[in-house]
Amino acid sequence: TMPPQVLIVEVGPRDGLQNEKTIIATADKIALIDRLSATGLRSIEATSFVSPKWVPQLADAAEVYSGITRQPGISYPVLVPNEQGYERARSVGVSEIAVFTAASEEFNRRNINAGIDESLARFAPVMERAKADGVKVRGYVSTVLGCPYQGEVPVADVVRVARMLHGMGCYEVSLGDTIGVGTPAKARAMLRAVAGEVPIQALAIHFHDTYGQALSNILACLEEGVAVIDAAVSGAGGCPYAKGASGNVASEDVVYMLHGLGIGTGIDLDALAETGRWLAALLGRETGSKAGKALLSR
Ligand code: HMG
Ligand code: MG
Repeated sequence: TMPPQVLIVEVGPRDGLQNEKTIIATADKIALIDRLSATGLRSIEATSFVSPKWVPQLADAAEVYSGITRQPGISYPVLVPNEQGYERARSVGVSEIAVFTAASEEFNRRNINAGIDESLARFAPVMERAKADGVKVRGYVSTVLGCPYQGEVPVADVVRVARMLHGMGCYEVSLGDTIGVGTPAKARAMLRAVAGEVPIQALAIHFHDTYGQALSNILACLEEGVAVIDAAVSGAGGCPYAKGASGNVASEDVVYMLHGLGIGTGIDLDALAETGRWLAALLGRETGSKAGKALLSR
């Protein structure tokens, strides 16, 4: 059965911006997050403390995190790939991080220069320090419905990596369809299999919309009881190390669907759509959110 309430994890400032070729001003990134903080969102992924050689766009992670006005009741998680990232994040007072790996070996090598088990071993000291510091850790599994290099990804591999991350102490595991190739029955079966090993309350879904399937896949997963959904305002996003990946599902579209289903989010959809328009203008393109576009042209 569907959950009465859903938590949207807004990943636009991180996933949305990481793939942009033109460097966006730090002040604009801060303005985006501050605007999002005023829409009723409860979790906003702010940036990544990854290597600036790998993702130059987010080299200003410390400045962004220090510059935003953190509101009480809102989490501002950041991506951390290793201990060096953890130290950089902690030095500016980060209190929630996300570690990330994948269900397919080759994608993981291209993304974080490590195999799956090697990456989990790399997270172990980060997890230990986070536990000691009282820092919450979220875990991502990428390529859960297909890999740009390997193709099909066995569900058993997704289950294994999700179980490992949860077992290591991730309070939540977000299942990423990195290249947006999934379809509803497949998404449902994948989630059901993972939920056999990790409680559904500790699972989130993170679907890119490359093939236009994200909302349908989300609906199928809602029916399985998932209550945390990652999305990016205006549908921005994509992973620079996933060939062919396009934007995340648009937050406005997800919120419109949820409200239509009678599922609460606490989000002011008009304010979110306005922020989506603002971001699209900043990036010099049309919004990738159909709901956002429709709402703003009423
Ligand atoms: P590496 O080259 O193997 O790392 O990269 P290294 O330890 O050999 O270090 C290389 C250089 O980077 C060194 O600098 C380090 O100091 C520096 P040098 O000595 O050459 O001057 N370095 C760092 N600098 C700052 N912060 C750090 C850091 N670490 C090393 N944390 C590494 C390994 C993991 C660092 C690299 O591969 C990396 O940063 N990858 C990140 C890629 C990324 O951000 N991808 C996008 C996010 S994942 C995603 O989008 C999927 C998701 O949305 C879910 C889904 O959709 O499926 C989450
Ligand atoms: Mg992503």
